[in-house]
Amino acid sequence: MKNISIIGTGYVGLVTGVCLAEIGHNVTCLDLDKKKIELLTLGVSPIYEPGLDELMASNMERGNLHFTSDTMMALRVADVVYIAVGTPQQEDGSANLSYVFKAAQDIGRNITRDVVVVTKSTVPLGTNYKIEEVVKAYLQGNYRVDIVSNPEFLREGSAVHDSFHGDRIVIGADSPAAADLIEEINQPFGLPILKTSISSAEMIKYAANAFLATKISFINEIATLSEKVGSDIVEVAKGIGKDARIGSKFLDAGIGFGGSCFPKDTRALVKISEAVDHDFRLLKSVIEINDRQKTALVKKAKERFGSLKGKRVALLGLAFKPNTDDMREAASISISKRLLEEGAEIIAYDPIAIENAKKVLPPEVQFVEQIEDAIKKADVVFIVTEWEEIVNKALILSSLFMEKPILFDGRNCYTEEEIKQYPVEYIAIGRKP
Ligand code: UGA
Repeated sequence: MKNISIIGTGYVGLVTGVCLAEIGHNVTCLDLDKKKIELLTLGVSPIYEPGLDELMASNMERGNLHFTSDTMMALRVADVVYIAVGTPQQEDGSANLSYVFKAAQDIGRNITRDVVVVTKSTVPLGTNYKIEEVVKAYLQGNYRVDIVSNPEFLREGSAVHDSFHGDRIVIGADSPAAADLIEEINQPFGLPILKTSISSAEMIKYAANAFLATKISFINEIATLSEKVGSDIVEVAKGIGKDARIGSKFLDAGIGFGGSCFPKDTRALVKISEAVDHDFRLLKSVIEINDRQKTALVKKAKERFGSLKGKRVALLGLAFKPNTDDMREAASISISKRLLEEGAEIIAYDPIAIENAKKVLPPEVQFVEQIEDAIKKADVVFIVTEWEEIVNKALILSSLFMEKPILFDGRNCYTEEEIKQYPVEYIAIGRKP
């Protein structure tokens, strides 16, 4: 059992900490936000993540998961320190690394033994070497410091499941001993482990997200083309996905990718490329296509009605994807703005994300607590996020409650058979009307 400290109890840090505790380590999670730590100490998770609360509670009870805002206490006796602080996007698209370097300074100042520093935060290429320099510059004694880049590949909404069922764990280290230690710590997860250099691990994280984002923008381009030539994107995606070289995952056409990762990481990789004088044109197109795709439903509705002035639109699903309350870069934000510009009214519903949505959607947006209330009041229904409840109810409720039922589906939730069962005008992405 190792003493592991995690700096940052955001989404990545908290899930990592809880899961490392679950496999038997003694984990201390550190955050400077005292309020957050108070809540966590009471067993309240600040994020909605299926399965997390239960694991948090059981590991706190077992005594191997602790929360503190005392930096010295957290770092003094740590064998391994994970940096899992945020790297928010700056105005120019690059990552803000100030929290990462602050964590590195804190580690240097407070450790009292040799330490392995593991970077979980997504950082631009070369940053791990800078982290090492900073930690060493602040050391108070003659301790050995090794750096490991251990990118996370967890998806929000299934992060706990992914921790135990992921495809691989990447351990990027220049010191074989440090790599072995992190391998030993992760062994109980029972996942394939890939050891690489630090630089490769840093690149793997960006390349993985950029590739997945590319897959999504690619299928969205094929969807746009399919609409023009009369093919059906669901059939097309199935047909190409059967080719094992392509694979069927991340081929769902829709209103694009959002969230805290793909948009930020793709822009950051473009910035990283520019810094080394490489024009990453493919990735720039991926981003452009995604920006366009986010408001595809508004464009379709405008084409259908001529004008959206005075139309009441039920916006179903506000979070950037189902099973999360995260509103970061959610399509609902761009859609709301465009709809309001067009003079439409918005009645918004989400099973979980309403409180967060209220903070970021324009003040004109009205919120309802029940999906029925959104649809009853609507002239037009938009499916923005494919929550199970929304998929189960939107089509049937539109047929029951709307005078002239019309549903714009941004996530291609229904099969042709399902659509045929209800007298609803149905317009989706990349499919025949
Ligand atoms: C993504 C990656 O999937 C994780 O592997 C990675 O660890 C994480 O970013 C990160 O860098 O931290 P996440 O942002 O939680 O995870 O969400 P995804 O499930 O990947 O979905 C991202 C967006 O793509 C969503 O808006 C989703 O609606 C959209 N998407 C996904 C599609 O439009 N089509 C698809 O076929 C799949």
